[in-house]
Amino acid sequence: MDFGIKNRLSKIFSPKTGRTVMLAVDHGYFQGPTTGLRDMKNIVPLVPQADCLFVTRGILRTSIDPATGTSICLRVSGGPSILGELSNEDITTSMEEALRLNASGVGMSIFVGAKNEDRTISNLGRLINEAQRYGMPVLAITAVGKEMARDGRYLGLACRMAAEIGANIVKTYYCEDFHKVVEGCPVPIVIAGGKKLPEMDALQMTEDAIRAGARGVDMGRNIFQSDSPAGMMKAVRAIVHKGATAREAFDIYQAGRKKASAAEAVDENENKNMEKV
Ligand code: 5RP
Repeated sequence: MDFGIKNRLSKIFSPKTGRTVMLAVDHGYFQGPTTGLRDMKNIVPLVPQADCLFVTRGILRTSIDPATGTSICLRVSGGPSILGELSNEDITTSMEEALRLNASGVGMSIFVGAKNEDRTISNLGRLINEAQRYGMPVLAITAVGKEMARDGRYLGLACRMAAEIGANIVKTYYCEDFHKVVEGCPVPIVIAGGKKLPEMDALQMTEDAIRAGARGVDMGRNIFQSDSPAGMMKAVRAIVHKGATAREAFDIYQAGRKKASAAEAVDENENKNMEKV
């Protein structure tokens, strides 16, 4: 692997722990203004806590401070909306744009077992061929879509295919026997969070994934749809980078939640006092 790819990967995976907490906020590219991402201002305070932000170029340009110290992994595929055939994706953002935006990686979805499986795999191959020329790591995302059976056999197949085509990182979902998915995939795996779960369950899933060999998370809804997104960020970081248990991380989340409620109460009081003036 050449210097450029290694250097960019070191902006995604902490050189200290070898792991990453990526914050995924790309959902709007096919879901529109998803709960928690309607106003991207809500995301801004979370960005410094992430090792890497997984985002589209549109949101990067409009909503993210260019002086951020957090690295960027750019979502470069798209096409169908949630109303259409999700596997009908193509590459929507050029490598030149990714370089101009100073991305540390680019990411796209593959749809193994879906209608356009072969096209998404050849798109991945083409993206990697181009990325390789510029020292740009590629993240392949597997198993998006309700109809996908998210079990070890399917995820093992999809992750291995992504790695064989040449992806540098694979993002997938957690499942039973996840260690088998990790064992069969020669490149780092990060997990997506999936749909919003109770906070303790999301943290338990994170702990289980890390114990099974995941190198981190690329998590969205379980962070930004939480009643304390900042608390969840801290809690997930504690598991990924410090080896905290889900129980310990849950206490961190709750402390963040209490802090946020106290700050809200102060704001409310100040507003009431202002009304009297
Ligand atoms: C959707 C994606 C999202 O980035 C991914 O699903 C992670 O978000 P979440 O944790 O909400 O599942 O790639 O195609």
